[in-house]
Amino acid sequence: MNTPLIEVSSLSHIFPDGTKALDEVSLDIHSGSFVILAGPNGSGKTVFMRHLNGLARPTAGVVILDGTPVLDDLSRARRSIGLVFQDADTQVVGQTVARDTAFGPENLRLPRNEIDKRVKAALEATGLVGFDERRPHTLSGGEMRRLAVAGVLAMEPDMLVLDEPFTGLDWPGCADLLAVLDGLHASGKTIFLITHDLDKVLAHADRLILMDSGRIAADGSPTEIIDSVEELGIRRPAGDVASMSWKRRERQQR
Ligand SMILES: Nc1ncnc2c1ncn2[C@@H]1O[C@H](COP(=O)(O)OP(=O)(O)O)[C@@H](O)[C@H]1O
Ligand SMILES: [Mg+2]
Repeated sequence: MNTPLIEVSSLSHIFPDGTKALDEVSLDIHSGSFVILAGPNGSGKTVFMRHLNGLARPTAGVVILDGTPVLDDLSRARRSIGLVFQDADTQVVGQTVARDTAFGPENLRLPRNEIDKRVKAALEATGLVGFDERRPHTLSGGEMRRLAVAGVLAMEPDMLVLDEPFTGLDWPGCADLLAVLDGLHASGKTIFLITHDLDKVLAHADRLILMDSGRIAADGSPTEIIDSVEELGIRRPAGDVASMSWKRRERQQR
């Protein structure tokens, strides 16, 4: 097995008020995988995400990216691990779709032609070609969510981490976003998706991790793990894992 992209070892996070959000979490994430992390509210998923690129400081333990601790080189971690937050829509800042997508690369002070190239690629990967000059507030919920993904993609991360990205989207919005994630995965990006909407996406993942009270409660292939989700208060979708997809049937997106 090649070196994992991410190695998390004995990661604990205790807040000043004493809340133990993460309790000795250890796991590896391999390059090119599509991982789903699920668990009840308050189980530590969002706190865990923030450790992946050094936004949070462990109480104990370490997160290693490509052999080097994340905290030893924060700018590298921020480039390599792209986070799409749950409130990503509120982070859209640009006057237009293209300018919003350019925001990250501009902060890196990349040359203009490189910025333009990245914006073009990010809009293509998120199905937003032709939306360049649109004002973000005129976008649909699903388009807005894909714009948030485009902004992160323009940083050319190795791994994309998304926190509950389907929340509040209608069915086409979910299906289109899922098609985008599928396309990114097919092009080699590592996908780490936090969601409890297993019925929408589980068929696309090669691994399911369940978190409970700051600990890893189960970790394995979706078919191995799916029958234990109800013990953690997550509704088990009906049917077999292969049917757990919100992919459009009549017209495949890509
Ligand atoms: N800033 C904070 N101060 C104290 N406790 C926090 C803070 N942020 C999160 N927590 C607690 O940490 C635990 C894990 O939270 P979180 O990772 O947001 O859960 P999830 O994303 O799985 O719903 C919860 O008990 C939550 O209340
Ligand atoms: Mg959360």
